Amino acid sequence: MTMDIETVKERAGSREFNPTDDMPEEYRKAATRMLEFHANSEIMGAYLERPFIRKAPSIERKLAFSAKVQDEIGHGQMLYRAAESLGIKTREEMLDDLANGDGKFLNCFHYPMESYVETPMIAFFVDGAAMRRQATLKKSSWEPYAHAMDKICFEEGMHVKHGESILRELMNGSKREQEMVQEAFEEWWPRILQFFGPSDDASTHHDFAADVGLKTATNDELRNSFLNRYMEKAKNYGLEIPDEPRIRDNGDGTYEVVEDDLDWDEFFTVSKNEYEGSIQQINGRREAQEAVQWVRNMMDGQTTAGNSPKPQAAD
Ligand SMILES: [Fe+2]
Ligand SMILES: [Fe+2]
Repeated sequence: MTMDIETVKERAGSREFNPTDDMPEEYRKAATRMLEFHANSEIMGAYLERPFIRKAPSIERKLAFSAKVQDEIGHGQMLYRAAESLGIKTREEMLDDLANGDGKFLNCFHYPMESYVETPMIAFFVDGAAMRRQATLKKSSWEPYAHAMDKICFEEGMHVKHGESILRELMNGSKREQEMVQEAFEEWWPRILQFFGPSDDASTHHDFAADVGLKTATNDELRNSFLNRYMEKAKNYGLEIPDEPRIRDNGDGTYEVVEDDLDWDEFFTVSKNEYEGSIQQINGRREAQEAVQWVRNMMDGQTTAGNSPKPQAAD
């Protein structure tokens, strides 16, 4: 019998539910929305970094980007599988929705990243922000989600180290390199702070997701915990924190952003895939999907036939 929502809320706790539980549709839909968003974001993030497998300045950096991009695609696939376990959408449906512009993904991955000096903005700051959120998802009530986080968090830790290594190298480089990183930082900083989503009062999905244990921390808690850690790190590497948005220093090593200083209109335009950059990123994803359609067709054909095509005998 389907569990009623009150029972779900009472039982909600770390890794409490799995596919053997008959979960109510409301829970399954909410968990699917979170997982699909997360999986889409992993894939779209990988596309931003992929060009740097070629563009990075040394073989070691190229290899690191290559490994990171593969990790991110793997994270996406794992999360699509965890989402499928809720029985709402298949992986193929989610991938199709992403390619046709219906799938939603993280704000930071709607913006183009063209220069190598920008790469630590994703690999250090965005992955660092992702770590803050993902560590709390290890306690999500949907067990397949929490389980996927064990592997993902381990690899994200490596990504942050990789991003930090590039940042350190550039900030110890020429004056020009330092200035370019500072410019990139000023451009990306407000987006990174919006990564966590709107303030708790404005977040429509938070209450239910928290009540049923899918989410264990609020957007503001995560944003503040990121600021508390990364403000100092940024300063230590010689970056200057921009005046806007204003950051309140609480005097005890903790910080808060003045959220009204952030451009939430832009954030919501981005979130609806209506930002000019969104279209470009989504088209890129669609073209990549179309380019390998023949592989899918071939594999579908094999699955339907129930076995592999027999090799033709040579004449
Ligand atoms: Fe990832
Ligand atoms: Fe990552």
